[in-house]
Amino acid sequence: MSPHPHGTAPADSDSRRMTRPGPDRGVHTVLTINGTRHELTLDPRTTLLDALRERLDLTGSKKGCDRGQCGACTVLVDGRRVNSCLLLAASAAGSEVTTVEGLADGDRLHPVQQAFLDHDAFQCGYCTPGQICSAVGALAELAEGRPSAVTPDVAAEPRWEAAEIRERMSGNLCRCGAYAHIVPAVMAAMDRSAGGAEPAPPAEPSPGVPAQMDGANR
Ligand code: FES
Ligand code: FES
Repeated sequence: MSPHPHGTAPADSDSRRMTRPGPDRGVHTVLTINGTRHELTLDPRTTLLDALRERLDLTGSKKGCDRGQCGACTVLVDGRRVNSCLLLAASAAGSEVTTVEGLADGDRLHPVQQAFLDHDAFQCGYCTPGQICSAVGALAELAEGRPSAVTPDVAAEPRWEAAEIRERMSGNLCRCGAYAHIVPAVMAAMDRSAGGAEPAPPAEPSPGVPAQMDGANR
């Protein structure tokens, strides 16, 4: 039964509305993104993804589903992969957030970015920033010996193999179906991380870094 059967508002509703946060009564939030400190006043409901894209103009992280199902918004928070559409921005205060824009070292691409380029691991590129951030996180998990659902023996070190990559990247969907190149790209970056073979060189000289690599496409 409704507590207010006649549709009358409780006597203190006005005062409660006054204390409820709103656009002009937001939460002061300090975010560290790619090593830069940002002070923002945010509606407390703002997700990290919206703060990145709408307030900081860091549009590399993409909004695919906005409900944690596609991985296009993947960023690293203190080195761990998160779907930024599911994390409130205020929750990331005090953490180091890394987006695809922060992976390269100046003009030098991150090894995972380079591997995606070398292996032509994208088509439209919409999922690519999330794929790359996720791969960076996945390789770190492997290096730390964290098991996945397909690791045969959780007491042993996970093997650096395609099955582990497929499983660990399964939260990142590619609507273009570029998986046949994404998996070899991550494997190549994995080999490099493990001190193995260098990734295969690109078939043809690249005219430059495509926008998909650093999220410059919005
Ligand atoms: S936009 Fe976040 S998981 Fe799809
Ligand atoms: S490259 Fe188009 S969605 Fe993955």
